[in-house]
Amino acid sequence: MCESKKYWESCFEKVDLETYDFSKSKSYPFLANFCENYLEKGDKVLDLGCGGGRNSHYLAQQGYDVYGIDIAMGAIDVCKFRFERYNLSGTFKQGTFDDIPFTDEFGGIVCIAALDHVTFHDAQESIHEVRRVLSEDGVILMTFDPPGTDEDIIDDAEILPDGTLKFVRGKQKGMLFHRYKDKEIKSLLGEKNIILFDYTENGTRMIISR
Ligand SMILES: C[S@@+](CC[C@H](N)C(=O)[O-])C[C@H]1O[C@@H](n2cnc3c(N)ncnc32)[C@H](O)[C@@H]1O
Repeated sequence: MCESKKYWESCFEKVDLETYDFSKSKSYPFLANFCENYLEKGDKVLDLGCGGGRNSHYLAQQGYDVYGIDIAMGAIDVCKFRFERYNLSGTFKQGTFDDIPFTDEFGGIVCIAALDHVTFHDAQESIHEVRRVLSEDGVILMTFDPPGTDEDIIDDAEILPDGTLKFVRGKQKGMLFHRYKDKEIKSLLGEKNIILFDYTENGTRMIISR
């Protein structure tokens, strides 16, 4: 098992499904606005790196046809449990950004705080895969954490040749984090495809792209 997957699995192992208060994990704040302005009613929407399913949960409640993938099987189990508990309908599979286990074409793809957890090189590969499953008029919502994130624990990381941090000790051991410069995000998605490039209060970059 690769170290990054091991790290993410360990995060979800700690979740006690029976006692977990799902109502506390609110969806990404801009998601409602994205749905309202960029998605069609009932669209098929893919949540990439869905984690515990906070965004999938919101999307399903709004009536979208929800699919989610995550590298961690633990995350998929949490999503399935969550959807069953709230009587929501959705399809969740283990998969990675560069190997998405669907042939469907999605009208919307959301990828919140997730693609910055692979190397820049793998993100470049993954973008082709993301666009493979995006419908012709489909729209992507993606966020990237502020560039200064994890500055305080940078000594726990090695810097890979493409600038990605690989944590080799400490509580985030195994995690990858690429601290994106704005120009890297633009080159990753292709400037001509970007519909909106915005900054939230804490410096998170929020991008809407074709
Ligand atoms: C910071 S969490 C964000 C989760 C979710 N998007 C949210 O907003 O709550 C990052 C997620 O990306 C997943 N992830 C990391 N690397 C991945 C990969 N290569 N392919 C798919 N998912 C990955 C992790 O397992 C984790 O659930």
